[in-house]
Amino acid sequence: MSAPSANPSPERTVAPERFVTPAAWADAQLPHLDTLLLEQAHLEKKAAAFAVSFLFRLPLHGALHRQLSKLGREELMHFERTIKLLDQRGIAFAPLHSSNYAAELKKAARRDLEGRLADELLIASIIEHRSHERMSLMTVATRAKEPEVSAFYADLCPSEERHEQLYLDLANLVVDAEAVRIRHAELFEHERRVLHELPFNNRLHSGLPTI
Ligand SMILES: [Fe+2]
Ligand SMILES: [Fe+2]
Repeated sequence: MSAPSANPSPERTVAPERFVTPAAWADAQLPHLDTLLLEQAHLEKKAAAFAVSFLFRLPLHGALHRQLSKLGREELMHFERTIKLLDQRGIAFAPLHSSNYAAELKKAARRDLEGRLADELLIASIIEHRSHERMSLMTVATRAKEPEVSAFYADLCPSEERHEQLYLDLANLVVDAEAVRIRHAELFEHERRVLHELPFNNRLHSGLPTI
């Protein structure tokens, strides 16, 4: 593991846009909006736990640790905001089967300590990217008939974009910028395969609909 530097690598990896989901995916989610929102609460809680887990696994680094801590708090605020919306819509908080998306992505992580940490940070970045894409689509799909839900998704999108970049910056602390670029592209390829293999259903990270 490389020694933590004062700043992220000067060759900072900037997230390229890899939006692949058609608008039809979001339109097909509209009859399942309540389930999607219930899952959103679970996802925000998991995202907070994931962020906190990295606080214990990364080398000490003041500036980025503070940003990671802020990210964890933001995810909890998203969680609270989502359960408030569930309350307003009369949806009871309840267990829900996951889509297996994150579990399938993590199967590609390398086993050695450094490789695993770098890969899991990159996978976290990819999850934020896909969440941002899907929530952007839901913002548009719900605008006419569910303006409150549309505003909810729109508010969350900028955070997901920032989280994606922060996880990329953190991966640059663990391995060099070239290794980040190569592995990031490989893991995105894996993610594309996962999206094509997962079924289309009422989950934020479900597979693609057949049109
Ligand atoms: Fe979030
Ligand atoms: Fe996030």
